[in-house]
Amino acid sequence: MRMAVPAETSAHETRVAATPETIKKLIALGCECVVQQGAGEAALIADEAYVEAGATLASSFQDVCNGADLIIKVAPLNQEELNDVTSGTTVASLCSPFNNPLLEAYAKAGLNVLCLEMIPRISRAQSMDVLSSQANIAGYKAILLALEHYKRFMPMLMTAAGTVQPARVLVMGAGVAGLQAIATARRLGATVEAFDVRAATKEQVESLGAKFVEVPVDDVDGEDAGGYAKEMSDEYKQKQAELIAKHAMKSDIIITTALIPGRPAPVLVTEETVSNMKAGSVIVDMAAEAGGNCPLTEKDAVWIYKGVTLIGISNIPALMSSDASQLFARNVLNFISPMLSSESDALNLNMEDEVIAESLLCQNGEFLKPQLLENKE
Ligand code: NAI
Repeated sequence: MRMAVPAETSAHETRVAATPETIKKLIALGCECVVQQGAGEAALIADEAYVEAGATLASSFQDVCNGADLIIKVAPLNQEELNDVTSGTTVASLCSPFNNPLLEAYAKAGLNVLCLEMIPRISRAQSMDVLSSQANIAGYKAILLALEHYKRFMPMLMTAAGTVQPARVLVMGAGVAGLQAIATARRLGATVEAFDVRAATKEQVESLGAKFVEVPVDDVDGEDAGGYAKEMSDEYKQKQAELIAKHAMKSDIIITTALIPGRPAPVLVTEETVSNMKAGSVIVDMAAEAGGNCPLTEKDAVWIYKGVTLIGISNIPALMSSDASQLFARNVLNFISPMLSSESDALNLNMEDEVIAESLLCQNGEFLKPQLLENKE
């Protein structure tokens, strides 16, 4: 099994899909590993470290992928890269399954594509879950990004010159990113409040020392069978909007992470709400990639509206390239290892395994997830 690790080329991408630690383990499992020169540079991994781990180096995307059975990547293959990958190759990477115009082209090119975002969030697959490992990093970093722009202290300080009140942080969406943002803000001494449509998150929010804000509606729980949020009633949305407007006005920092997979991000912080916030407040809109939880958010930009700083960075994990790569690479290793077989160069894509069946986007020229194409129309 020849496995290729190309250098990432998309804008703002600093992560790499394999580290010397995971390369060593993949070699022990029978892989021959080829890494593109400079692939780990932005994640602080020198080419020599890959060579020491047993990999060989190749100088270009074409060279690294030449003869590869498996390509592992962080960002989705772009058109130029796709042109250089031969039919029959398996690619495991993030695929942006809800907004990638090349999905069908992957199938037409005869690739087998394993989409890392579609690994199911089941207990057995937790160690493979790149969305969780990266969201955890992003939730932590979101608080630090907010602090870079926030002109006040986070904790309460009692000084000879008087007392400084702690910052008030409001987190919307208490999933992986939200819970880490809450924990980080609490560690820095802020007073934290959080919203989520899923009742199950109340206990988690409170266990981190934050206050859970409940929307006063006799609605069914906002959790679907898969454990994700579902679309709420209009009454719920109306009451939630009123409550958010009230709490946002008192907040210094807002972190928004609310998303239902495959749908545009719900608007939770309206222009009017932002207008009523205190000057100097900061909003980190982590849903920027899916349109933002605030309509004023500009993707990959930081700007100020009526004194409120809006941060819409869409690839926050890339700002922590070293740890983000370490965790991403371990997730990929855990995902790939069960598919390796000592007898064959081909990956064992056993469709009876739920993890493979859900994440395999296309195989032998066939696109296996037509519902993704319907969603796009
Ligand atoms: P998750 O699915 O674990 O959490 C999302 C949470 O939002 C869930 O708890 C859900 O119940 C809640 N939610 C959904 N709709 C809501 C609503 N209308 N009101 C209140 N809560 C609502 O997802 P995860 O992994 O924590 O990611 C959260 C967001 O952060 C996603 O939008 C993801 O794309 C984004 N993200 C952004 C990154 C960046 O670099 N900007 C990096 C990683 C994740």
